[in-house]
Amino acid sequence: MLEPFFQDIQAHGFSSLDNLIDQHTVRKLVKWSDILRAENQFVPAKVSGEKILNAQIRGDSTYWLDPLHPTVEWDELKLFLDQLQSQLNEKFFLGIKQYECHLAYYPVGAFYKKHLDRLSTNSSRLFTFILYLNENWNEGDGGELVVFDKQGLEIKRLSPQAGRLVGFMSDEFPHEVLPSIRPRLSFTGWMHNKLLY
Ligand code: OGA
Ligand code: MN
Repeated sequence: MLEPFFQDIQAHGFSSLDNLIDQHTVRKLVKWSDILRAENQFVPAKVSGEKILNAQIRGDSTYWLDPLHPTVEWDELKLFLDQLQSQLNEKFFLGIKQYECHLAYYPVGAFYKKHLDRLSTNSSRLFTFILYLNENWNEGDGGELVVFDKQGLEIKRLSPQAGRLVGFMSDEFPHEVLPSIRPRLSFTGWMHNKLLY
C-alpha cells in the first residue's frame, strides 16, 4: 500500500498520500489530543536548536510522544511508523536508527515560518513525516503546508486534511505552515540516523 509513496520519494524525495491512515486511527489521535490539551499537556514549541520560545517563528504547542513506551492511543500509528522506518532503510539504505514524534496544535492564526528540518543543530534528522488530523478541512481555512525547492521556488501547497500523510527528506525541502482560521492539529516526526533514547 505504501508503494506509490515510496515511488515518489525515490523520484522526488517528497511524497504526499491521502487515506493511507484510516479514520479510526485519526479519530483516536484527535480525541487523545483533546484530552491532553484539556490537561495542559501541550507546551509552546521551541525553535529547533535555539531552545527559546519564539512566537515570531512558530506559534504551535506540542506534546512529545515516547516511542519506547507507546500507549494504546497511538499503537496503530506506532506499528505503521515501525514499518515505514524498516522499509525506508530497505529501499533507500538510509540507516535510520530511531524516530521522534509529537502532536502539534496550532491555534487560530498560528504559523511556522519557512525553515529546514535538518540544521547543524539537529543534523541526525533524515526523514520528516507528517500526518494531518483535521476532519472537514475546507478550502479557505488556511493552514497549508507550503513546500519549496532548494532554490526557494514553491513546489507544493498542501491543506492539512485528515488522513493525509506527507514525507520528505529533511535536508532538501524548506517549508512553512500558513496561518489558519481554525485550530490545526498534526502528528509530526523525524527519522534519525542515530539513537535518541
Ligand atoms: C515542523 C513542521 C509542518 C506541518 O513541525 O517542523 O514543519 O505541516 N510542521 O505541521
Ligand atoms: Mn518543519
